[in-house]
Amino acid sequence: MKEQKNIIIDCDTGIDDSLALMLSIISEDINLLGVSVVAGNTTVENAYYNTKRVFKLLKENDIELFSGSSKPLVKDLIIADETHADDGFGNISKEFDEEYGHIKKDFIKSEENISKKLVKYFRDKIDNNKNVILVTIGPMTNLALALKEDPNCFENVHRIVSMGGCFRVHGNTSPVAEFNYWVDPEAANYVYHNSPVKVEMVGLDVTRKIVLTEDKVEIIKKKNNKLGRFIEKITNFYMDFHLEYENIVGCVINDPLAIAHIIDDSILSGFDSFTEVSETSITRGQSVVDSQNFYKKKPNSIIFTEVDSDRFFNLFYDRIEKYGKKGGELNE
Ligand code: BDR
Ligand code: CA
Repeated sequence: MKEQKNIIIDCDTGIDDSLALMLSIISEDINLLGVSVVAGNTTVENAYYNTKRVFKLLKENDIELFSGSSKPLVKDLIIADETHADDGFGNISKEFDEEYGHIKKDFIKSEENISKKLVKYFRDKIDNNKNVILVTIGPMTNLALALKEDPNCFENVHRIVSMGGCFRVHGNTSPVAEFNYWVDPEAANYVYHNSPVKVEMVGLDVTRKIVLTEDKVEIIKKKNNKLGRFIEKITNFYMDFHLEYENIVGCVINDPLAIAHIIDDSILSGFDSFTEVSETSITRGQSVVDSQNFYKKKPNSIIFTEVDSDRFFNLFYDRIEKYGKKGGELNE
């Protein structure tokens, strides 16, 4: 077996975050060192409990879960309940808890000294493991808080992969902005400017091509009924949203693409560039990519523009099927 990739996930556990967490936990290619949650799709408390639900589904008890910031750096928090539902879990949390058992309600809001706690959390993992990849699939508030507190916090990080932003395509939250960068643009901009490694931007240019349809859910159910049923239930609300707001039959599952890119780097391709995130007015959250090198600045990002979506889905199916065979949970 190839060496496992050490990763940390920072997320705002909503629907597609749950699928990203699932993919990393079930993939033998990945060693998930920790999960930190942040407010975004839903409150940080919901994100915390939703993450615990995914752990419960997969009988995962060992991964550290850190509850991070409950609000963006500067802006007021605006959650995406129309996309991910009130519970951030496609409105299935009650049903889920009845089926899989109630989760322990042990959420503690980490307001006091949060930046210091975040630095400790990140450093513990990055400094004590080889080639750690930090994957951020929510607003980048936690990363920015840690970097502001300790500018060298990520000095040993191997890569930073960010689901967020858009280059040549329209936004999903404003005409020009993608949700994660729109929610906390100051944080995203800070990370782009201060990251010691190029931020790998897995933006809407590529994630919009990852559309999970009912047919695909059927395929997944045949490969692993337990995970298939979970995916079917959790994406139901999300599919309705896509039909109503985007005229898409199916749903765009952005976050798992960032994980798949770590497992198989031939899924995405793009180019190096200097990128900034706008903090104000109607361009709030826009990722401005200097693709023509107009400003003659050193590239601080890799912008992905091409995606092999078949390759993504084959990987997704494969890991789900293998997990079913391994755990004997094929048809639970
Ligand atoms: C991103 O925003 C959230 O709604 C999703 O979880 C994803 O991380 C897509 O714009
Ligand atoms: Ca997310």
